Amino acid sequence: MENLDELRERFRRQAESVADRDSWEALRLDWLGRKKGVVRSLLSRIGEIAAEQRREFGQRVNELRREVESGLEEIGDRLTAREREASLVARRVDVTLPGRRPRQGSLHPVTRVIAEIETIFAELGFSVAEGPEVETDFHNFEALNMPPDHPARDTQDTFFVEGGQVLRTHTSPVQIRTMLARKPPIRIICPGRVYRHDNDLRHSPMFHQIEGLAVGEGITFGHLKGTLEAFLQRLFSPDTGVRLRPSFFPFTEPSAEVDITCPFCHGSGCATCSQSGWMEILGSGMVDPRVLRNCGIDPDRYSGFAFGLGIDRVAMIRYGIPNIRLLFDNDERLLRQVRR
Ligand code: FA5
Ligand code: MG
Repeated sequence: MENLDELRERFRRQAESVADRDSWEALRLDWLGRKKGVVRSLLSRIGEIAAEQRREFGQRVNELRREVESGLEEIGDRLTAREREASLVARRVDVTLPGRRPRQGSLHPVTRVIAEIETIFAELGFSVAEGPEVETDFHNFEALNMPPDHPARDTQDTFFVEGGQVLRTHTSPVQIRTMLARKPPIRIICPGRVYRHDNDLRHSPMFHQIEGLAVGEGITFGHLKGTLEAFLQRLFSPDTGVRLRPSFFPFTEPSAEVDITCPFCHGSGCATCSQSGWMEILGSGMVDPRVLRNCGIDPDRYSGFAFGLGIDRVAMIRYGIPNIRLLFDNDERLLRQVRR
């Protein structure tokens, strides 16, 4: 019995020296361990105690056990509190520091110009059509009134693909595909990539065009002019002058090149417009009756206008980009500049 008092005293001393989780666990095993714990071995020796003392012995061992349990619990709670405190300190976040701003992406200038043009034409009642970049000779040339020996083919230096196909040199083949697939009235625009064997400050071997096509009964050159004026003044500015010059395309008759007053000098003349005050922006014309006929549309009943615009040139004007290649160099600084 005196032994039990000693044990209790020993537990208190040991408990005082517990400083961390490991020594707490060691203490717990020493005293409450199921095989060699002090409490367990006391209970297993109860048979050695004289019968009349067993009851009291049992009670006192149980008291010791409760004391050990609550002592361990108390120290455990203190350790837990200390551990939580330590981890809060270690993982402290200074909420007053400025955040790390994620780099923001942005749309490519060509993508932005395409979206803008699509919006303008949607309001004019045009829908968007698309076609393949690898085209047949028929769609890219022949149906557009350019037979194999036609000299106009020379103005569109062509990349040929195995099997007699070509990388489309313009978006005009989408006109053909649309007219072959649908009957008038037709009002479409076709944005997309096109390819030519060209390479200088204003020409890239891959560039972008938007084709426009309207076919119906009673469509006149006046509709072409009105549509292009409305479009170009929306795209650039309401006071933009629009001028049509006679020109030639095999697939339109009559044909016109369309100029706008130079967006940089507003017509007074500068280096960008070679002092002329005007800048060429697109090709256009009335769809040649032979093209309509090639697509199974009766030219005596229907007429139409078409135009083709270089999108990269518009992006260059819009964002003051002097060299077309900057658009395709994949230099992210361009996007950051244009975003502003
Ligand atoms: C055509 O491609 C005609 N299909 C346009 C057309 C459509 C006329 C419908 C009539 C009716 P052109 O070859 O001029 O035309 O090219 C049109 C525009 O594409 C040019 O005004 C220019 O802005 C742009 N362009 C031509 N070649 C390049 C190039 N290598 N790099 C960048 N832009 C180019
Ligand atoms: Mg040209």
